[in-house]
Order: sequence, then structure tokens, then C-alpha cells
Amino acid sequence: MKNVLIFGGSGLVGSKFNNLLKKEFEIISPPASEVDILNQDQLMKILEEENPSWVINFAAITDVEGSEKENGDKDGLCFRVNAIGAQNVAQACKNFNKRLIHISTEYVFDGTKSDNPYTEEDIPNPINWYGQTKLFGEDFVLESGCEAIIMRISMPFTSHYKLKKDIARFFLEQLKAGNNIKAVEDQRITPTLVNDIVNALRVFLESQSSGIYHVSSRDSVTPLEFAKTIAKTFRLNYSLINSISLDEFSKNKKAKLLKFSWLNPTKFEKEFGDDILHLVEESLVILKQEVLL
Ligand SMILES: NC(=O)c1ccc[n+]([C@@H]2O[C@H](COP(=O)([O-])OP(=O)(O)OC[C@H]3O[C@@H](n4cnc5c(N)ncnc54)[C@H](OP(=O)(O)O)[C@@H]3O)[C@@H](O)[C@H]2O)c1
Repeated sequence: MKNVLIFGGSGLVGSKFNNLLKKEFEIISPPASEVDILNQDQLMKILEEENPSWVINFAAITDVEGSEKENGDKDGLCFRVNAIGAQNVAQACKNFNKRLIHISTEYVFDGTKSDNPYTEEDIPNPINWYGQTKLFGEDFVLESGCEAIIMRISMPFTSHYKLKKDIARFFLEQLKAGNNIKAVEDQRITPTLVNDIVNALRVFLESQSSGIYHVSSRDSVTPLEFAKTIAKTFRLNYSLINSISLDEFSKNKKAKLLKFSWLNPTKFEKEFGDDILHLVEESLVILKQEVLL
């Protein structure tokens, strides 16, 4: 059985990776209290001890709004974890000749591309601090010379995760509680079921690939359409859903949000097949089955 060392295994995406693939791979998932990706000695030690076939870095500071307080501060936690932490992991992988999958985000883009979701050829141009720190992280991974896949994902959602909400569970729980919600009508997003992300990771782990890949749902929606599809799928009350513009929604936020916050997974599908990722509506049906479990 291949052994895979993961950082950030307690997070929204990493914990699902653990749950879904623990029978197929020997997953070593040290908590941050044991291996801090800011601590090179701890990283070197665990790579040497475990000698993994692969390393996956899910670890990050993901609070986009909170990170804006640190804008420009390279001593702040967001830059240190997302950029320096990524660099440390990549350097440790290079040192022990280990293959790395580094998880990144659509937030490396500026959200102005209106005609088609972002491809791997599009030029990053982040508009908030979280996105900037993640782009530094990507660049440091590429510069390290280790053999790496950079996997950009977008708005992951899952059926169960206690530590934080995602867009699907937020809408779902509000609608179930009978609360009115406001959903943005003029933004394009590719919310992605975490199971699809994990299934994409599974094929990466069996591949010899490297480079940047976008892994997301196969189609895009507005948040308003997403909320309505949730209501339809879960048979909840549509009349609770109200629309709001992105400008209105963002007006009190510190971090700028992307108007076109979408990824194009065509490169991934051409290489690995079109039976791994789902349309948004299909993903919500799977979500419903899991929520009911
Ligand atoms: N969630 C999203 O909407 C989204 C969208 C696009 C891309 N992504 C990317 O996907 C990846 C996973 O995101 P997620 O939402 O699963 O993250 P998450 O739920 O916020 O979890 C972050 C993980 O990172 C760990 N961590 C933080 N600082 C660390 C450190 N210094 N050393 C070791 N571990 C540390 C945390 O451990 P503790 O809990 O123990 O601190 C936690 O396990 C990230 O790279 C993120 O940028 C996320």
C-alpha cells in the first residue's frame, strides 16, 4: 500500500481525503501541533522517518476576510503559512526526492475573466492578500525544483464538517431552518464537491504528472442559482431565497471578492477522463445522499 504524508489533514478538504481514502492508502496525517509546516526541522524529520510515496499539502490559512487585516505583512500568519510553509514543504520534498501535491485556489486570479472559466494558461493576478499569499506559495513550490502538482480548487463543499461552514451547508442549513437568505446574482462560481477533489487526488497519486491543474465542477453557476438548486434538490422553500448584487454583498467586506470566481477543469479531464468530476447539480444529489446518511 502506498503511504501518503499529508499536512492540513484536520481541515475541510484534508479530513475528507482521510475518510475516503484511508482503506486505499496508508495516510500519515500529523496534527499541526506535531508537525508545523513553519518548522523545517519537524518537516525534515517526518519525511525522513515516514519515507512517503507522496506528500500532500492541504495546510493553509483559509480565512480570506480575516487575512486582509495582515495585507502586505510578510511576518503575518497568512503569509508565513501559505507562502513560507508551502516553500518549507517543497524544500523538504526536494531534499528527500518526494513528489508533492500542493493545494491552491482560484483566488490567485483577479476575477475579471468573463467569457470562460480560468484555465492553467491564464495569468494570475490576485486582488486580495489571501490570493497573494497563495500565489507566493505556488511560486515557491515551482521554484523549489521538487516534482510537484499544483492543484487549484474552488469553493469546496462537503456533507459534514464541524469546524467551518462552506457555501452549500450555509445555504442548506439556513433554508432548513426557514431563514431568509441573500444569494449573489451576478457572480460566476464553480462550487466543487470535496469527494470530486479527493477522487482527482486519487488519480494524481497513481500518475506521473506534474504541473498546474484546475480541479472543479464541470459547469458554473451564480450563488443564486446554486441556492435555488439546493432548494430544488432538498425540496426546500424557494421563496426564502432573495437575490443581492456582488457589490452590495461585498460592501462591508475588507477582502475583495472575485466576480468571475471560476475554474476550468478541461486539462484535468483530457488527461484523466470525464467521469471523475460532476456537474454542480449532480454534486448536490450526491451531497443529499451523504447528508441523509
Ligand atoms: N475552503 C475553501 O473555500 C478553499 C477554496 C479554494 C482552495 N482552498 C485551499 O484548499 C486547501 C485546504 O483548505 P481547507 O478549507 O481544507 O482548509 P482548512 O479547513 O482551513 O484547514 C486548514 C488546515 O491547515 C492546517 N494548518 C494551518 N496552519 C498550519 C501549520 N502552520 N502547520 C501545519 N498545519 C497547519 C490546519 O491545522 P489546525 O486546524 O490544527 O490548525 C488545518 O488542518 C488550502 O490550501 C486552501 O488554500 C480552500
